[in-house]
Amino acid sequence: MTRTILGIESSCDDTAAAVVRQLDGKTAILSSIVFDQGVLHAAFGGVVPEIAARAHAEKIDHCVEQALAQAGVALRDCDAIAVTAGPGLIGGVLSGVMCAKGLAAATGLPLIGVNHLAGHALTPRLTDDVNFPYLMLLVSGGHCQFLIVHDADRFKRIGGTIDDAPGEAFDKTARLLGLPQPGGPAVERAAAQGDPNRFALPRPLLDRTDCDMSFSGLKTALLRARDGVMTADLSLTASDQADLAAGFQAAMTDVLRAKTARALDLYVALSPTEPVLAVAGGVAANGAIRAALTDLCAERDVRFVAPPLSLCTDNAAMIAFAGLHRLARGDSDDLTLSARPRWPLDATAPAMLGSGKKGAKA
Ligand code: KG4
Ligand code: ZN
Repeated sequence: MTRTILGIESSCDDTAAAVVRQLDGKTAILSSIVFDQGVLHAAFGGVVPEIAARAHAEKIDHCVEQALAQAGVALRDCDAIAVTAGPGLIGGVLSGVMCAKGLAAATGLPLIGVNHLAGHALTPRLTDDVNFPYLMLLVSGGHCQFLIVHDADRFKRIGGTIDDAPGEAFDKTARLLGLPQPGGPAVERAAAQGDPNRFALPRPLLDRTDCDMSFSGLKTALLRARDGVMTADLSLTASDQADLAAGFQAAMTDVLRAKTARALDLYVALSPTEPVLAVAGGVAANGAIRAALTDLCAERDVRFVAPPLSLCTDNAAMIAFAGLHRLARGDSDDLTLSARPRWPLDATAPAMLGSGKKGAKA
């Protein structure tokens, strides 16, 4: 049986469309187009929701056209249209949902709303031969959580950040040190030249036995350390920058490693036949963090799966793939599908502290 699905993603600052095909249980990505809006937001030091929404609305149909053309597939050859319906910046999510509704109304194809986080969480099954249940660490600019993925629609959140996401903390660190955005790669490059032990930075919440994390205190400690240098020397030298970056990255790595070890304890207690830790999100590109997780998994005899970066970061192939699961169950939405700024994957998990006044974002 062949199923071909168009996926659309616009929940943050990447406008993306992809065509994915499933043939006799095997999945192929026929195309995956991503328009990165980075340059539009660079001057502001972060994503500006209104600029993002306008840019998505301008680009999304070109993006869909390119994805279909590159796949060599006409819209009428698709079996369904999957679209990110949340969580994310509402203007962007709306751009994608409206585009998908228009295409579904015009073609009569089923419309499938997908949770963006489910897209990330199911990616290891798109790229690698991974069986349920597996442990997923999602670490990006907007998200940080441990999920036990029991099935394509059953996720158990066993911990996450109670304030900043790791990518957000890397980006803020870069700003404090006068390094360019996106901050993660810039901090990693600076850290490679630095001494991680020059500044004593905290490893927050390691005294707690759960899998929750907090990074806002780490950021404040870094600010104090930087101000201490500035007060004494009136400026930051390249070696100060490198030492601060190295100290920050080491603290982040230690926390992620220690909390992942705890998450593994909870997961391995379920006796999975072939235990797997998978990562997704831009921060999973960090060499030090990857090395620490690889090492931890080797110690625990757990397989470590890190999808290629283009599928770890935001893309529409993961949305199409998650949509295929719903399509296979004969499940779809009608044209009343809503765009949701907040949409926790695990509705039973308590809302995280600091997740916003209106409840859990994710
Ligand atoms: O998953 P992603 O592309 O977008 C979303 O947040 O949805 O993640 C982007 C985040 C940014 O905060 C960026 O600074 C961080 O991932 N990042 C990194 C690295 N590359 C990207 N953080 C640490 N080290 C890196 N090498
Ligand atoms: Zn994402």
